[in-house]
Amino acid sequence: MTDCILVLDFGGQYCHLIARRIRELNVYSEIVSPDITPEEIAKYNRRYDVKGLIISGGPQSVYEENAPRFDKNLLDLDLGILGLCYGHQLIAHYVGGRVEPGERKEYGITKAIIDKPVGILKDLNKEGRVWMSHSDTVLEMPDNYEVLAHTDNSPVAAFKHKKKRIYGLQWHPEVVHTVNGEKMFRNFVYDVCKCKGNWIMEDFIEESIKKIKERMGNKKAIIALSGGVDSSMAAILAHRAMGKNLTAVFVDTGLMRKNEPESIKRIFTEDFDLNFRFIDAKERFFKALKGTEDPEEKRRIIGELFIRIFEEVARDIGAEFLIQGTIYPDRIESGTQHAFTIKSHHNVGGLPDVLGLEIVEPLEDLYKDEVRVVAKKLGLPDEIAYRHPFPGPGLAIRIIGEVTPESTGIVREADAIVKEEIKKAGLEKELWQFFAILLPIKTVGVQGDIRTYRNTVALRIVQSVDGMTANFAEIPYDVLERISTRITNEIPEVNRIVYDITHKPPGTVEWE
Ligand code: XMP
Repeated sequence: MTDCILVLDFGGQYCHLIARRIRELNVYSEIVSPDITPEEIAKYNRRYDVKGLIISGGPQSVYEENAPRFDKNLLDLDLGILGLCYGHQLIAHYVGGRVEPGERKEYGITKAIIDKPVGILKDLNKEGRVWMSHSDTVLEMPDNYEVLAHTDNSPVAAFKHKKKRIYGLQWHPEVVHTVNGEKMFRNFVYDVCKCKGNWIMEDFIEESIKKIKERMGNKKAIIALSGGVDSSMAAILAHRAMGKNLTAVFVDTGLMRKNEPESIKRIFTEDFDLNFRFIDAKERFFKALKGTEDPEEKRRIIGELFIRIFEEVARDIGAEFLIQGTIYPDRIESGTQHAFTIKSHHNVGGLPDVLGLEIVEPLEDLYKDEVRVVAKKLGLPDEIAYRHPFPGPGLAIRIIGEVTPESTGIVREADAIVKEEIKKAGLEKELWQFFAILLPIKTVGVQGDIRTYRNTVALRIVQSVDGMTANFAEIPYDVLERISTRITNEIPEVNRIVYDITHKPPGTVEWE
């Protein structure tokens, strides 16, 4: 049976990272409710071999009224148990340690002194950098516990039960700033919990297929394919589970990049034999967008039309389910107005509420890079597995001003040139996005000795980790020059190219 570590979620912002770090060590890990009981764990054991529990961090103080608790009986189970941050304080509080309520805050990178390099801290150096974020502090543990590490502000920064396999760490080993965090988890899962390390991503695939089958039986589902890695992956997984009961719907809005609709169609019908519905809605989209210049209005129109089209298809097929490629970061409430706007307006993810279909999200626990790994394992080509982000409203928000078949044609050709040249220069992997924007500005130029009065194209090429902030990329001049020359030579409507040198903030990645 597959070994499993359960992570009790006390609402810490890194909770999900813990499960991920464990999976990276080839041990299956799942996040569970903090009030899980020993009986519920026994139920887990029908499917997995639960070898350990991690009690996550959380924003509370153990002294707060209504502070969340876990079932004390868990501490009597013969499992490896690790409390992190709030989990560490909570264990200390339960077993009679002295926990000082929240005055002496410790935040950021801190030097930890390892007093006893045993168990979870085995083979670690005397001093190590760890990442802290806490206010309650454990000052003392009862006699049946020993202190393994301290910091300037935390006399008990790590502890261990003398006989049982119960550990606590005040710091966050899941955060990259904790040097050797991986080693601590490795010690925990392999030495403390005696896991075998027998879980691999293929198991995720098998498990997901099984879950989808169980949930849907013989019912019908649709999935909105955008061509991005998430929806593509979800489609392939669901297809494996449901076969022809799944219909993948791809809407050609006329706002996609050059050759993209054709290539998506080829991949999903020829390589994967999906039940594929290609909806040519170009005319409908252009008609709906006619005369519209306002960016948010464009998004609204596109979003609405998407919904209408999916409603039509769902009705036609008799679908009861909607498969979505939502991944874990999509679910994090960043709380920023901006993230909210992006999500609510125009992602195909905005479909479900309106469609009245039951939603299945097979990738909801995965991070992007995990999705890419699975995508490769499922045989998706690199052009999808490593596709750069492309906004839901497509080229419409890269045309400043009215979206027409003509303006879209110009920006699409320019975009294709940017893509080709960036690829040729071998820069593709280090860039977050690279594209062209058509500006509503005409300027005077001279081409072939003739005065011209034509369009301007802006180049947007940025580096970013998550799209929330971005830097304009320092592209070599010769690459910029090739892009500029090709666009002005090959696209008769354009006579001027400018390079956007704005970071985000204050700019955004897209111009609209
Ligand atoms: P901004 O322009 O907000 O872009 O800095 C950040 C990231 O989000 C993408 N983006 C969108 N994605 N629908 C999407 O699905 C949209 O309306 C949208 N607007 C921006 C953008 O391409 C970048 O990756």
